[in-house]
Amino acid sequence: MNPPANITDPLILFMPSGKRGRFPKGTPILDAARQLGVYVESVCGGRATCGRCQVEVQEGHFAKHKIISSNEHISPIGPKEARYAEKRELKPGRRLSCSALIEGDLVIDVPQDTVINAQVVRKDADTRVIERNPATRICYVEVEEPDMHKPSGDLDRLKAALQRDWDYGRLEADAHLLPQVQSILRQGKWAVTAAVHDDDDTDAARIIALWPGLKNEAYGIACDIGSTTIAMHLVSLLSGRVAASAGTSNPQIRFGEDLMSRVSYVMMNPDGREAMTKAVRDAISTLIDKVAVEGGVQREDILDAVFVGNPIMHHLFLGIDPTELGGAPFALAVSGAVKAHASDLGLRLNPGARLYMLPCIAGHVGADAAAVALSEGPHRQDEMMLIVDVGTNAEIVLGNRERVVAASSPTGPAFEGAEISGGQRAAPGAIERVRIDPGTLEPRFRVIGSELWSDEPGFAESVAATGVTGICGSGIIEVIAEMFLTGIISEDGVIDGALAAKSPRIVANGRTFSYVLTESEPRITITQNDVRAIQLAKAALYAGIKLLMEKQGVTGVDVIRFAGAFGSFIDPKYAMALGLIPDCELDKVSAVGNAAGTGARMALLNRMHRREIEETVRRIEKIETALEPKFQEHFVHAMALPNKVDPFVKLGQQVPLPQRKSIDAGGVAGDGSPRRRSREERAARRARP
Ligand code: FES
Repeated sequence: MNPPANITDPLILFMPSGKRGRFPKGTPILDAARQLGVYVESVCGGRATCGRCQVEVQEGHFAKHKIISSNEHISPIGPKEARYAEKRELKPGRRLSCSALIEGDLVIDVPQDTVINAQVVRKDADTRVIERNPATRICYVEVEEPDMHKPSGDLDRLKAALQRDWDYGRLEADAHLLPQVQSILRQGKWAVTAAVHDDDDTDAARIIALWPGLKNEAYGIACDIGSTTIAMHLVSLLSGRVAASAGTSNPQIRFGEDLMSRVSYVMMNPDGREAMTKAVRDAISTLIDKVAVEGGVQREDILDAVFVGNPIMHHLFLGIDPTELGGAPFALAVSGAVKAHASDLGLRLNPGARLYMLPCIAGHVGADAAAVALSEGPHRQDEMMLIVDVGTNAEIVLGNRERVVAASSPTGPAFEGAEISGGQRAAPGAIERVRIDPGTLEPRFRVIGSELWSDEPGFAESVAATGVTGICGSGIIEVIAEMFLTGIISEDGVIDGALAAKSPRIVANGRTFSYVLTESEPRITITQNDVRAIQLAKAALYAGIKLLMEKQGVTGVDVIRFAGAFGSFIDPKYAMALGLIPDCELDKVSAVGNAAGTGARMALLNRMHRREIEETVRRIEKIETALEPKFQEHFVHAMALPNKVDPFVKLGQQVPLPQRKSIDAGGVAGDGSPRRRSREERAARRARP
């Protein structure tokens, strides 16, 4: 233990955490970090052999902190550090914090990339730095040899060594290790590395794996089980480095495209639940093989696994029948975080590997939404943040550090291209961007797989391989928004038949009109029914958002985050012009990609993030849209573009919105007749979850 510090002792500031404190000269930097609660990795327990504790001194005058920091203020490289540098290489400027001693004021940078067996850093994962404090750590210890006069068991002396060197209190060992302890200790000549799982809860820390000698790497997986795709990252628990990422489609699709059809499958088939559980676990196992091979890692080196997913995926993965989630009151079998042995779920990792599943927020706002909330952190900030994860069931979270509310809205599959005449999934050949000339009403578009617009030279050649096959979700949003902005459709969503005289693109289609987007085969048109399908989907989403805004007592939001793959491709301008999301500064709307995957990585790398989201989810107020009397009223208003009653002032300042005109359902100018209103009200009733 170091002597207590006094006011004349050197001042040490750790970055990026910003934690600071005074320590007597001669204190190892690693000790100072520990005392301040700054997480610096260490496997060898300060023996200068693992190289995990590297830090960098920042040189300069840090006026704000009143610190002049210099490499002169740290002890020179000693023999142990020199030996490490000679054997393993220490980058210029890097020091081993277990060996470097404080000699004066210092600003210390704790790099997040302490890569020992350097491999390529993957870019697929969000590159944010996650402060590490994993639930599973690996600890090197030297254990006392047996002594006839002190008859304690080998395991007991191993525990004592871990308690002595690593400050563990209560410590237990997994039963599967008991038959191996003696041979591993002797193989390692009484020096071993133990993996200790300590999730900072009431349970004792547990030794879950053991290797002879120094083991200097350990991995975990973070996995987002989506209903369409499953995405996995393989992450170093020591450096936080993403060693590999992979994705695959969810094989449960063969049992049903959307969530409710999968619940129905379980209800109709006696073996349905088992079959779907097996399908998702097999797919996860294949993904583990994939990331392990790509990352050059053995399955046995994977010690921890974090999973997120919507409630139905969550239940099916855990082997729970999701039937109760198929209807009100949408009862979850378990809403809190789930902790288990990975082997309990048939996952073949290290035999001691643990599994953690984030809590679910509500019966249809799942652990994936919790992971998105953990990643984006509405509960960590003052601004009112709206998070929307658009899928067949949109999950919505709204809040700030004061209060967070959440709900889901039954948007249906229209945003994914289903129920749309020319709709298709986002794949090469699908139209994803559309612009319409306001004068001629002629369209131009881009398809997935080509960088060129359809009116640019070389476009036909660039899409020759795929063709133009249909229109995907982002394309549908853009084309309908452009149709609205150019006056082709009214604020009520009716295609203006009078424009047929002006443009051959407007054609009669029975009693209504359509807009011809492409003439060539397949001829892609936007029909009145397509516009209606998008209106219904966006009205359901917006009505859910409005309910949450009302609960919060706000009329606007400060920040909007689109989560999920679909959100990455939506242009905020068009989403807002359609009234999918509330009025907001456009530069405050952004896509956050696989935020659920990022949240899962955060929970993998830092057990405090587990406590944070458990606590946050307990505080989140869940709104059941089906039970809210105002849902229908909001829905009816939201059927209009962008909205019947909400003004969209901020959008109007950046995008010229068309004059209001209303046309009756047959494409003739008129007003919002009682006939239409009752039709919209019927639609609202149908949309209720
Ligand atoms: Fe292992 Fe410093 S703690 S080298």
